[in-house]
Amino acid sequence: MIPQSFIQDLLNRVDIVDVVGRYVQLKKGGANYMGLCPFHNEKSPSFTVSPTKQFYHCFGCGAHGTAIGFLIEYSGLGFVEAVKDLAQGVGMTVPDNDDRLPPAQRAEQQAKSLALSEALTRACDYYRRELRQAERAKQYLIGRGLTGEIAARYGLGYAPDGWDGLKSVFPDYEDGALVESGLVIDRAEEDDARHKRYDRFRDRIMFPIRNTKGQVIGFGGRVLDKGEPKYLNSPETPLFQKGSELYGLFEARQAIREAGYVLVTEGYMDVVALAQLGFPQAVATLGTACTTIHVQKLLRQTDQVVFSFDGDGAGRRAARRALEASLPYAGDNKTIKFLFLPSEHDPDSFVREYGSEAFAQQVQDAMPLSQFLLKEAVGDNDLHTPEGRARAQFDAKPMLQALPASALRLQIVRGLAQVTGSTPAEIEGLFELAQPVAQGRKAPPRARRAAPMGLERQIMRLLVAHPVLAAEFDEPAQAAVMRLASEHADMFVQLLTICREMGVNANFAVLAESLREISSDFDPLIAEIAADTESDAEVVRLELLGAIRQARLQAIKGELEQIAGGVADEAAKNRIRELMMQQDQLRRQAQAETGRRD
Ligand code: UTP
Ligand code: MN
Repeated sequence: MIPQSFIQDLLNRVDIVDVVGRYVQLKKGGANYMGLCPFHNEKSPSFTVSPTKQFYHCFGCGAHGTAIGFLIEYSGLGFVEAVKDLAQGVGMTVPDNDDRLPPAQRAEQQAKSLALSEALTRACDYYRRELRQAERAKQYLIGRGLTGEIAARYGLGYAPDGWDGLKSVFPDYEDGALVESGLVIDRAEEDDARHKRYDRFRDRIMFPIRNTKGQVIGFGGRVLDKGEPKYLNSPETPLFQKGSELYGLFEARQAIREAGYVLVTEGYMDVVALAQLGFPQAVATLGTACTTIHVQKLLRQTDQVVFSFDGDGAGRRAARRALEASLPYAGDNKTIKFLFLPSEHDPDSFVREYGSEAFAQQVQDAMPLSQFLLKEAVGDNDLHTPEGRARAQFDAKPMLQALPASALRLQIVRGLAQVTGSTPAEIEGLFELAQPVAQGRKAPPRARRAAPMGLERQIMRLLVAHPVLAAEFDEPAQAAVMRLASEHADMFVQLLTICREMGVNANFAVLAESLREISSDFDPLIAEIAADTESDAEVVRLELLGAIRQARLQAIKGELEQIAGGVADEAAKNRIRELMMQQDQLRRQAQAETGRRD
């Protein structure tokens, strides 16, 4: 857990305009910055970034949030990763319990990563330049149906033939970063050959692999003619692990959002060819099986994943691995599907032979996870025999146990019960499946409670927008608002407490970020404030004071009515006098206030 105080400091240190500006072209317009929204497709800008609020908001699609939220949405980073990324940019170090490295060693690691990243970027630029003058390589790409536009979008390049082409861009060819980044190979000492060091990639089409931030972290290189290996990949480095990276994810993010799903293929060429032919939402694993990290990464970008596999045995095995990797994440609000192409085809060859529409139909008809799971469980088992049915149950057991307790799992259990002649309860008992439990950190929504309205809402909204105003609530003010808010009193107190804890450093962005972790009750207010124009702090303070006064007057009125309905003893009479005095005072204050403003 990153301490809340660190998040506060961080949000006070970074400027959201810089953060968003790294990814979106922003222009100053009035108090805000404007640009084309990266979260939906638009021609004229409706995306705004407010330096005062340290918040972004799109008037087109309603997307909004802090700098942290932006990175999570835009790059698909997890919360911790996003915080780390921002912290690094402003020279802060995230206090990290897991990271037991001493600071000096950590700094060394960071310096090394930076050196690797710089080397890879420079190599990538070099390969791209080389492609422009490599007629044979260009012809190869054209022959595979690619246009210059797609080649540019994916940063395709060409590593020329020759042992040390990279020497021309790395004056210090002996630099250790070249070997560590996998660009150059060191020949063993005893091997007394002419070249002690040589380029890993020679005479190959180069596919740069980027991380979700867009940094080049490795390459895949394809031979132009026949040759072995067909694809040569960067080795694993501190920056590049095949089990957690997906080719094309950076380039596909926007398209994934627009399509509402991501298409997972097995090859570099599939990704670029699909992008060329109308499916820019495709990514590929890097010659390895799909891992749970892959699935997690994909589900951060979208709720729907469609895996595509060849229809042959290898494809089936790969699909089975993808199924297993998906099970822990297959919840009720996620859709995971499996597309099996005819055995002689991969997505690239399929679209070229049958066209985009036929492929879109394949995507449409892809097999849902539930069906694939049952199909795998049944396998070759003969369901006409008790042994076969038992075996099918046995085969399904680990898969069902890997699924989170959800409505989907219940459906699958029902399906399995049906084909194996059991009842769902028998299967659940036999497999020791835990009952569904409430998931997630957010408090479950209280039973159909109406959203706060009127004055109480106005007060909470002012407080969310300007949390420092918590200081304006004295004891009678707080009591009055709680009385007024009645069933939302807990929400109000929660808000007031958080604002007070934040103290003078409190601001809207910091508050919004911590509310996000705690409760969704405030989401509508946050969305409204994000869309609001800024107002002067003093005006807002007066507005709040006015609202508090109203709340107090209403509370007094309520109490007076209550007393009037009870016994008129001495204590009651005293209380009435007291309340009337307060009422009088508040009214006079209100009059003075309006008089001053008119
Ligand atoms: P394929 O052999 O199916 O090639 O490898 P492909 O993607 O259809 O490529 P083209 O159409 O012939 O150009 C699928 C993936 O497996 C990995 C690569 O990631 C490749 O994209 N692979 C394949 C390797 O890493 N090395 C190889 O030698 C072959
Ligand atoms: Mn292919």
